[in-house]
Amino acid sequence: MEIIVKDSPEEMSKTAARMVARTLNAKPNAVLGLATGSTPLGLYRELVRLHQEGALDFSQVTTFNLDEYVGLTHRHPQSYHYFMHENLFKHINIPQQNIYIPSGTTDNYEAFCKWYEQRIVECGGIDLQILGIGSDGHIAFNEPTSSLGSRTRIKTLARQTIEDNARFFGSPGEVPVYAITMGVGTILEARKIVLLAHGKQKADAVAAAIEGPVTSKITASALQLHRDVMYIVDRDAASSLEMLDYYEWIQAKMPDAP
Ligand code: PGA
Repeated sequence: MEIIVKDSPEEMSKTAARMVARTLNAKPNAVLGLATGSTPLGLYRELVRLHQEGALDFSQVTTFNLDEYVGLTHRHPQSYHYFMHENLFKHINIPQQNIYIPSGTTDNYEAFCKWYEQRIVECGGIDLQILGIGSDGHIAFNEPTSSLGSRTRIKTLARQTIEDNARFFGSPGEVPVYAITMGVGTILEARKIVLLAHGKQKADAVAAAIEGPVTSKITASALQLHRDVMYIVDRDAASSLEMLDYYEWIQAKMPDAP
């Protein structure tokens, strides 16, 4: 795992955008795994800016989103479909048919989840997966005690997640209770994973995920089993890390490595 600590959320977003740009420069038809929530907003702004400057071309890119609320239509302002179109897709040149987001309104969730997994494989697998982390340590909507081998499926959201996400809705009562989400096992098959976090409210989850045991109580801890994971976090989100000095030492020494 590589742990990169940045001084601000803006720096975090710029570093993440450079990772995406590097991936697309090396492979213009890369498959990106995308996340929603407040964490990747700065990254998406930066990608839009780079695209508008002519530095990033999405014409051959395919994307798979991690999750969606069950019961919200594409037009619901809190649906992840709406979020992705507003914050990224409508500002870049990605073909509509290359965009995959789990459906929150299918009449057959089981069949849909199978199809989603199959499409990821048919498209060649995810080259770069962007993740946020919940304050309960979840990745996508893989809430505590989700199987670390789980695949795309319906999940019941934890009370903590409903409370955390109530800020986007009128009240906790309006937050959907179920979501369709890629599983931890699905995520672990991505070739490279970049997890972003900023703010003090993420510090304990980040520390548990990086330095704690691998446990389904903190599904992000499963990333310890992946061979190519990068955490890009701001100082607040890094503030509970016991070995922060060590991670910064590694970063400082890396440019001179043979
Ligand atoms: P946030 O959510 O980016 O809105 O903090 C992250 C998550 O729950 O995965």
